[in-house]
Amino acid sequence: MTRHEIEETVFTVEEIRQRVGELAGEINRDYEGTDLLLIGILKGAFIFLADLARRLTVPVRFDFIACSSYGSSTRTSGVVRILKDLDSDISGKHVLLVEDIVDTGLTLSYLVKNLEARGPDSLHICTLLNKSSPERKADLPIRYQGFSIPDDFVIGYGLDCAEEYRNLPYIAKIRR
Ligand code: IMP
Repeated sequence: MTRHEIEETVFTVEEIRQRVGELAGEINRDYEGTDLLLIGILKGAFIFLADLARRLTVPVRFDFIACSSYGSSTRTSGVVRILKDLDSDISGKHVLLVEDIVDTGLTLSYLVKNLEARGPDSLHICTLLNKSSPERKADLPIRYQGFSIPDDFVIGYGLDCAEEYRNLPYIAKIRR
C-alpha cells in the first residue's frame, strides 16, 4: 500500500455538509413537481450522492454508471471506457448526473454525449468539485457545483488516490 503525504485539509466536514445542503436546496427548487433520476458516477461520487440524496425532498430514483478513470496514477489517460452501464432506460426521464470532480472534463463530455443519445427529457450535471485544470478539454453544462478548486490532487469524501482515502470524511490535498 503506497502512502502519500496529506498536505492540508481543503474542505472540512462542516464546510462540505453546509455546501451539500445548499446544493440540495437549489435542486429541490429547480425540480419541484418532477421526478428525478440521479445517476451516480462510480466510484468517486458514492459518498457525495448519498449525502446529497438525503437532503432532497423531490422524488428520486437512482442508477449508477462506472467509467475508467486514472487507474493507479494521478494522471488521466484520456481514454474513457464504460465499465458498468446503467440498469435502466433513461428516455423521457429528468436525469441529474452526479460526479465527484471534474478535471479535464473528458469523462463527463463522453458520458453526456453517450447519455444524450438515449433520449432523456433533460440531462444536467452536478459535481462536488470543479478543478481549474489547464487541461480542461470540454465546455461542460455544469448546472450545480459544490466548490471550485485549483489544480491540486485531492482525496477524501469519495475521492481516491489508487483506491485509498475514499473514506476520509473531509477533503484534503496530497503531494503528487
Ligand atoms: P476528467 O475526465 O479528467 O474530468 O477526470 C474525472 C475523474 O478523474 C474523476 O471522476 C475522478 O475519478 C478523477 N480525478 C480527477 N481529479 C482528481 C483528484 O484530484 N482526486 C481524485 N480523483 C480525481
